[in-house]
Amino acid sequence: MANLPQDYDSVMSRKQEVMKDAIGIDYSQFESGSMAFDYEKMMRETGYTLEEMQKIQYSVNVGNTPILELRNLTALARACAPEGKGARIFVKDEAANPSGSFKARRAANAVYHAKKLGYKGVIAATSGNYGAAVASQAAIAGLKCIIVQECYDSKGVGQPEIIEKARKCEALGAEVVQLTVGPELFYKFILLLEETGYFNASLYTPFGIAGVETLGYEISMQFREKYGKDPDVVVCTNAGGGNLTGTARGLIKAGARNTKVIGASIDLSGLHMASDKAFNLKSCTTGHTGFGVPYAVDPDHSDVPRSAARPLRYMDRYVTITQGDVFYITECLATLEGLEKGPAGNTSLAAAFALAQEMDQDQMIVVQETEYTGAGKHVQPQLSFARENGIEVRFGDPKDEVPGKSVIIPEHPSLIKATDMDLDRQKKSLIKANLKKYTMDPTEEDYQYLAEETKKDVDWVKKAVEEIKASL
Ligand SMILES: Cc1ncc(COP(=O)(O)O)c(C=O)c1O
Repeated sequence: MANLPQDYDSVMSRKQEVMKDAIGIDYSQFESGSMAFDYEKMMRETGYTLEEMQKIQYSVNVGNTPILELRNLTALARACAPEGKGARIFVKDEAANPSGSFKARRAANAVYHAKKLGYKGVIAATSGNYGAAVASQAAIAGLKCIIVQECYDSKGVGQPEIIEKARKCEALGAEVVQLTVGPELFYKFILLLEETGYFNASLYTPFGIAGVETLGYEISMQFREKYGKDPDVVVCTNAGGGNLTGTARGLIKAGARNTKVIGASIDLSGLHMASDKAFNLKSCTTGHTGFGVPYAVDPDHSDVPRSAARPLRYMDRYVTITQGDVFYITECLATLEGLEKGPAGNTSLAAAFALAQEMDQDQMIVVQETEYTGAGKHVQPQLSFARENGIEVRFGDPKDEVPGKSVIIPEHPSLIKATDMDLDRQKKSLIKANLKKYTMDPTEEDYQYLAEETKKDVDWVKKAVEEIKASL
């Protein structure tokens, strides 16, 4: 290892081998040689059963979080809704997990698996709550932990929310490697895996994603026990897609087939995530379209060869909300419900507030998570940071918000609207990416695979393929 060349190109050329050693999965066994790969087989053979995961998670105090009904927020939504509309709004209080978010479910499985395979430590590349979750679980398991964060722009200025997460990881005993935005992250990550021989606790392994299935399953069980039926809608904040994928799979395992799963992301269209300039122009660090859209249409552009997070397989709708909406709803949650929670969960809450107004009053809508809050994650530091970066912050109609230029706090709660994204367009983008990456002439097995990837039938996929080919 000491003799291997350390320059960027050499390290990147070794990445497949390093990844394989650091996860212990040979992904090629699920590949068909053409476009199709057997996703369910991968989940079956490398994940854990629901019962095993529940056992693992409950033994480290993860899961079994309460469902809270938000009666005052429901009343506010009804005051804004047409006559007779306004579903009951609930949240699953995932901030009650040891590290303060649902990410503990992913980390519990990943760390359990690493320990079972005999790794001495775990590494995760994440600027988000997952770092704290891995650090927390590694602390319980007695494993070493390194978190690699994309934290600063090239001037060394860091987003308050990311700095807060670094603080939390360090408090939980992890070593935090803080990097500037750009390709350096993946390079450093590979190098560290190689140097340490630690386990790659990627967000996108089958064990990580399967860990979220318990969340969806619990929702169904809790609702059946308390209300005698499954909720009508579950809203999931969507970024890399694991939150929605795992939750939806858990609902399916519970047999909750009539529950609609809606993805929600903050609209950051026009801001480029890999751009140094745009890095500090966003007032949120996850749950936005900058991750949500590219990961949905090309799930495998993650840090594993085949991502287990494939949200387009499960989404019934995908809506956006604005940054201003999320700040507003964060304050509503605190001042109307007495719950001070962090931004990612409040993204789906803002969407649920609007979506509830389309639904009847006897229906139930669940926001499937809350996250902890703390210095840097609060509304005030985020808004101060926005102003320092030249962003206009004002009251008005959030539909006028321009990501990277303004944050518009709604003048009235009735201005909070969920905007539907064109899911068929995203599904066609996924198909196009597959055609370009693998083959322009899919086999019947490939068509079936694409139908599963897009939650469509084979005829729809065939038509889409023809359309895409004609446009190229
Ligand atoms: C608290 C919280 N909610 C939701 C998300 C989005 O999850 P995913 O990336 O799996 O879509 C994240 C991810 O960063 C998160 O930390």
